[in-house]
Amino acid sequence: MEFRIACIPGDGIGPEVTEQAVRVLKRIGEIYGHTFHFETLLAGGCAIDATGKSLPEETVTAAKAADAVLLGAVGGPKWDGMSGDTRPEAALLGLRKALGLFANLRPALLFEQLKGACPLKEELVSGGLDILVVRELTGGIYFGERGTKQTDMGLAAYDIEQYAEEEVRRIAVTAFEMAMKRNKIVTSVDKANVLESSRLWRRVVTEVSASYPEVTLNHMYVDNAAMQLVRNPKQFDVIVTANLFGDILSDEASMITGSIGMLPSASLAVGNFGMYEPVHGSAPDIAGKNLANPMASILSAAMMLRYSLGLSKEADAIENAIRAVLAEGWRMPDLLTEGTKEMGTKEAGDRILSKL
Ligand code: IPM
Ligand code: MN
Repeated sequence: MEFRIACIPGDGIGPEVTEQAVRVLKRIGEIYGHTFHFETLLAGGCAIDATGKSLPEETVTAAKAADAVLLGAVGGPKWDGMSGDTRPEAALLGLRKALGLFANLRPALLFEQLKGACPLKEELVSGGLDILVVRELTGGIYFGERGTKQTDMGLAAYDIEQYAEEEVRRIAVTAFEMAMKRNKIVTSVDKANVLESSRLWRRVVTEVSASYPEVTLNHMYVDNAAMQLVRNPKQFDVIVTANLFGDILSDEASMITGSIGMLPSASLAVGNFGMYEPVHGSAPDIAGKNLANPMASILSAAMMLRYSLGLSKEADAIENAIRAVLAEGWRMPDLLTEGTKEMGTKEAGDRILSKL
């Protein structure tokens, strides 16, 4: 089969990890008889430098025309002084909105071979950890009205959290559908004891749950959820939550696997279209040093094969290749422990290719 992939390497370590993911995809194409056409596009700080805009129009147009988007990371200290809507991060938000990527899937999976990297006590994670955070990605406070106004306490700034029923319904459906393929538990996280938007969220999620009688639905306040993730993470299967809560909880969930450098993500639109990117950021401090872990990017490519291109056998092959490299004791510097062997970004790509 033939596919068009829009590649947005971005800033910092984005280009070097994406390069390894592209190598892996090309090899998958050779082995399984697919052709991937890659088109490299600008977004983020590099786009600001080249065009003056963090998200050039051509990038959006070309991304829309592709079958899927593979993104590295955006942002860096060079552009930190810039204002809200001109920053590199605005490109990410712009892409999410323009491409209709309302469902963000962030799996927090503790690889058997990396158990030692988990900062929690062993008994809390024995038997492994496999949580899927389903984060609403195109609504809520990230996209609500914002502004400033004068008050008697001085200048005030505000950002509005708003959710419409249909926005909640579609993300809830995504979460329940995912749960049906997993352990059939959905935990909906909100702040319904305080926020009106959370009360609407809770009502709609409960309504959706009626269509999924096999799935157990729990509601949990976000403060409690943050605590439960470190107290008893094994109670979770699928967590569904609003944009801001999901931003925070997905970082927490990723850290309890001990390996943020290993975690991929998918941002899905209606239909099969999606954008795939590592959960980690642009890590400017280690950029260009062959130190960045490319596994999150490579695993993001695997998610792309599975969710957008319908190639699950090929996705399995990538995930198994990564497990095989880990099983031989090879680690990136972020996960190096006693008794393991260090490799660099390119070498990790080489080793994964050799296991496909
Ligand atoms: C993420 C990031 C982004 C977000 C930033 C870079 C805008 O933290 O993807 O989690 O807050 O969504
Ligand atoms: Mn985040």
